[in-house]
Amino acid sequence: LRRSPFLVAYWDGSGLIVENYATGVCVAADAEAVALLGFFDRWRTPGQLEAALPDYDPASIRRALSRLLRHSLLERSDRPPPAGTSSLRRWASWNPQAGWFHFSTRDVRYTRDDVAFARALARRARRDPLPKFGKRYPQAPVVPLPAPARAGEFPAVLLSRRTWRRFGRRALSQAELGTLLGLTFGVQGWLRAPGLGRLPLKTSPSGGALHPIEAYVVALRVAGVPRGLYHYDARRHRLERLPGRADARKAAAYLAGDRWAGRAGAILLLTAVFARPQWKYPSARTYRVLLAEAGHLAQTFCLTATWLGLAPFSTMALADSRIERDLGIDGVSEAVLYAVGAGARPPRLANPHLAR
Ligand SMILES: Cc1cc2nc3c(=O)[nH]c(=O)nc-3n(C[C@H](O)[C@H](O)[C@H](O)COP(=O)(O)O)c2cc1C
Repeated sequence: LRRSPFLVAYWDGSGLIVENYATGVCVAADAEAVALLGFFDRWRTPGQLEAALPDYDPASIRRALSRLLRHSLLERSDRPPPAGTSSLRRWASWNPQAGWFHFSTRDVRYTRDDVAFARALARRARRDPLPKFGKRYPQAPVVPLPAPARAGEFPAVLLSRRTWRRFGRRALSQAELGTLLGLTFGVQGWLRAPGLGRLPLKTSPSGGALHPIEAYVVALRVAGVPRGLYHYDARRHRLERLPGRADARKAAAYLAGDRWAGRAGAILLLTAVFARPQWKYPSARTYRVLLAEAGHLAQTFCLTATWLGLAPFSTMALADSRIERDLGIDGVSEAVLYAVGAGARPPRLANPHLAR
């Protein structure tokens, strides 16, 4: 037996919690359990433990060990490790901080009752108001600034970007999808990095120009592109069809039950392939970099869609495991981080927020 390498322990009120962030198991632990986990810091047999604790009843030791095994806090050398844990070893230099955060925030439950949620928030705001928007330094000397330039196409696009959750009936055209993908995710050029080879350049920045974010397309209503799941080949600007079907219901399930998502023309699932950044940057902080990169790409997507006169959205309410299963990725060496999508604009609706 050996202690799982993916344990973190913390005090929760008065109790000590031990969590295996690879398996998602969280248990209250007493001092005895902690001592046993300490003993199994390397492969050891139950017999060695019994020999080290001659005053303990062997049956009670066995019971304690089987509890730790059941909760995946210990691993057995004669059984395969829990799914995904071998790839998780590649996260070693980012763990426990990044791995714990990433894996313990997967597959969270989302409330689908928006009305009840809004009511509960309004109730709370009466006794504990929403913290104020924007900082100020009222005592500081001020420098007034000229109004920002608003003339021209670029400010017009920026100023008209909104999140849309309603879409027109028209399907996206192949040209629109091509522009969205090409201008957001397509490789625009190459950079020579001594010793490393060529690094791709895109319209968004990327830490070390590693570009670990991949885009998958759930094509729902795109003229000339059969409904389905695709991977976008960023180098060759083309779609690669993956097995499996795509429909409105599935799309909504991917986005944690948001039914409006199924009415979009296409949804893009943004994943991170961790190998490149983990190879180059052994610090857990790099996990932050990946989240920022997904944000850059998402904003570029939303602005491109706005420029095309489409209705874009972005969301982090994702059914991680379901998406990863359908994409055929393991959630450890490659995991979904973010989603964006777009449809045609609904007629006669200038500002989607007025419709909610
Ligand atoms: C990182 C991120 C996560 C978001 N997650 C969700 C989400 O889970 N569901 C949703 O409907 N909108 C989501 N949104 C969209 C916001 O609700 C939206 O941006 C906000 O209401 C402001 O509206 P605007 O985008 O039109 O300015 C998300 C936006 C961002 C940047």
